[in-house]
Amino acid sequence: MHKSKITGLGFEVPEKVVLNADLEKIMDTSDEWIQSRSGIKERRWASEDIATSDLALGASKKAMEMAGVSPEDIDLVIVGTLSSDYFFPGVSAQLQDKLNLRNVAAFDIKAACSAFVYCLSVGDQFIRSGMAETALIVGAVTQTKLIDKTTRGRDIAVLFGDGAGAAIIQTSNDDSGILSTHLHCEGKDMRNLWMEGPGSAPGVWINNKQAIADGRLSPFMNGREVFRNAVTRFPEVIQEAMDENGLTMDDIKLIIPHQANNRISQAVAKRMGIDMDRIYSNIHKYGNTTAASIPIALTEAFQEGKIKKGDHIILAAFGAGYTWASAAIRW
Ligand code: COA
Repeated sequence: MHKSKITGLGFEVPEKVVLNADLEKIMDTSDEWIQSRSGIKERRWASEDIATSDLALGASKKAMEMAGVSPEDIDLVIVGTLSSDYFFPGVSAQLQDKLNLRNVAAFDIKAACSAFVYCLSVGDQFIRSGMAETALIVGAVTQTKLIDKTTRGRDIAVLFGDGAGAAIIQTSNDDSGILSTHLHCEGKDMRNLWMEGPGSAPGVWINNKQAIADGRLSPFMNGREVFRNAVTRFPEVIQEAMDENGLTMDDIKLIIPHQANNRISQAVAKRMGIDMDRIYSNIHKYGNTTAASIPIALTEAFQEGKIKKGDHIILAAFGAGYTWASAAIRW
């Protein structure tokens, strides 16, 4: 069984920069509140004419270019998103078409902020089993179209941004690659971070005016509960990835966490007894881009020269579901 390795990376964010000061003009919030609670200074918002698949396309092309693969080479597409272009089919179908790929397997995974690591894990299993040799793995969102951008939705509106990140994974013929992946879910507390409608559950279809008036067709978050769970699950799943591979924190060059909130990363660093320079952060520029945050961060960390051949890194995610996940990688 050959493991897979990441051979290409790329990301794309919308042009429109939204500063904290811009948010102050449309809701009751402040730059001080946002920065002190999250570390976010600005984020990108997709304009009306940009769909999730457009960002996914830009990110994918860059990852393909870095890997030196052409459309014919790709034999699997997996997209993680919570804001698909259409109710169905998934973004992966639009991406298959826009990239002129062969009629290969293409599907979406809806695991919120953990989606990219979930997608990477599934892609890795396809490659390990010999079902695929070159897979395109994407996390992409234009979720700010879904959020309530008034004072009612401010706890969420200030934290989230749009973007896409992509990775090409291919069969590894040496000792580098994805060493292991670890996926988890606990659905019982899903109501702490969710968007109820439009959905098939009673009362939350698109025609329910009361549900719309009550804000049930926009994301809802119980911030404190999410925070409490995140600071427990991140260290747990990072430790799981190290234990599985006989690694200790001294062996890990960099942790690339889902960019949920800088305060969460600081709490994780404290719990794990490491300095913040071991935990990558670019949340100040993009906010929380859910499924896209890890591939965007991974691409930037690589481009900044923070990851070199032979380094061990860990990707770690936590988000709605709750879902949480990690991947141990030898670069
Ligand atoms: N601007 C100003 N005030 C805001 C605000 C905003 N954007 N959003 C909420 N508030 C207000 C609330 O209404 C509340 O006011 P009240 O006390 O009068 O009721 C107050 O701020 C809450 O502040 P605080 O007690 O400091 O909240 P907090 O310390 O729990 O921080 C979060 C709030 C959301 C930043 C924090 O809970 C958090 O980071 N949670 C995790 C979020 C996350 O990462 N989610 C994604 C996971 S994938």
